[in-house]
Amino acid sequence: MPYTVPKLKDFSLASLNKAAEKLLAALEKEAAAAKDDASWKEFRDRWMARKDGILTSINEWLKSAPKESKRDVGQSVNQLKAAVEHTVEAAQQRLQNRAGELRLTAERVDITLPGIRRPVGAEHPVIKTINEMVSVFRNLGYSVAEGPVIESDYYNFESLNFPPNHPARDTQDTLFIARQESKPLRERLLLRTHTSPVQIRTMEKMKPPLRIVIPGTVHRNDPPDASHSPMFHQIEGLAVDTNITFSDLKGTLDHAMKMFFGSSVKTSFRPSFFPFTEPSAEMMVSCFICGGSGKRTGVGSVAGTIREEPCRPCKQTGWIEILGCGMVDPNVFGFVKDNGYDPKKVSGFAFGMGADRIAILKYGVDDIQLFFNGDVRFLRQFGASR
Ligand code: PHE
Repeated sequence: MPYTVPKLKDFSLASLNKAAEKLLAALEKEAAAAKDDASWKEFRDRWMARKDGILTSINEWLKSAPKESKRDVGQSVNQLKAAVEHTVEAAQQRLQNRAGELRLTAERVDITLPGIRRPVGAEHPVIKTINEMVSVFRNLGYSVAEGPVIESDYYNFESLNFPPNHPARDTQDTLFIARQESKPLRERLLLRTHTSPVQIRTMEKMKPPLRIVIPGTVHRNDPPDASHSPMFHQIEGLAVDTNITFSDLKGTLDHAMKMFFGSSVKTSFRPSFFPFTEPSAEMMVSCFICGGSGKRTGVGSVAGTIREEPCRPCKQTGWIEILGCGMVDPNVFGFVKDNGYDPKKVSGFAFGMGADRIAILKYGVDDIQLFFNGDVRFLRQFGASR
């Protein structure tokens, strides 16, 4: 039978205490029985609900008490109220502590187990190539410069000595941004076709002497195939000072190639044309795959025989074309002469190479698309072996 508040007939201290004892015993018993949030709420309401909770009912004791007992009954009722409130609260606390303990047990970790290894990504082969080449030039005292991929006609062409309508512009297969026709030609936007615009941008900001290396993304309207991609990467260089000569260009690039490909490679320069360099050259490095012989040796199909086969990367010539370069055309300095680049006082050399092509040769990759279509099976081969 659940506890109900009795009517008091006898208000002596003894019977008051007895009634209080009964009530407290019931309180403790019910408090202990509260096993979860719902049963605790039920317990709380049964004892403390304003309308017909047990606490409200014991007010009847006070009301029905004769005058001379009111003081004793009042004191007793107050103590019982405090006890009920305390017990209800304590019961809730006990439930919460228990829930916390259960959660801790459930979440307990065995710190003696080995940790979960987070896979470490790998540097993309093109980024790796760029970083290595950039550090070769940083070791020579070059700093790194960068510029926007969306470029204006002025920086991509005009200031690099490609006059409007000059046929040399046609060699760049430019991707233009649409709806630029209302702007003056030099402000029209395009995707930069080379990193050379950063030459001008940097010379506008920094006075000579200058030595910079410029890595970056470029775009051309080349349909994708095994050796072309509409997006690719270049590494550009520019050195300007008061007495830079073509020998500096050759010495610097020869050293850089030996640092990058190994000390046994040779370099060779042949005449070329770029509007922004004069004279211009193409630089070849001796084939670092066949060692310049044009032939590769492999193990023959008959045991003990050596087979000779043509070297594909250099097309059996023993040389691989690696970059375009030249002495900065005085007309280019003309566009930045107000910042200290007086073509009569300064001279310089510039070069630009395709990072993707170098990565293809270096890692023996046969399709440039593999770099960009994000197949982890390809990329994983460049990760550190674990
Ligand atoms: N910008 C040229 C290209 O993309 C390369 C180059 C850079 C040539 C600097 C000479 C000097 O083909």
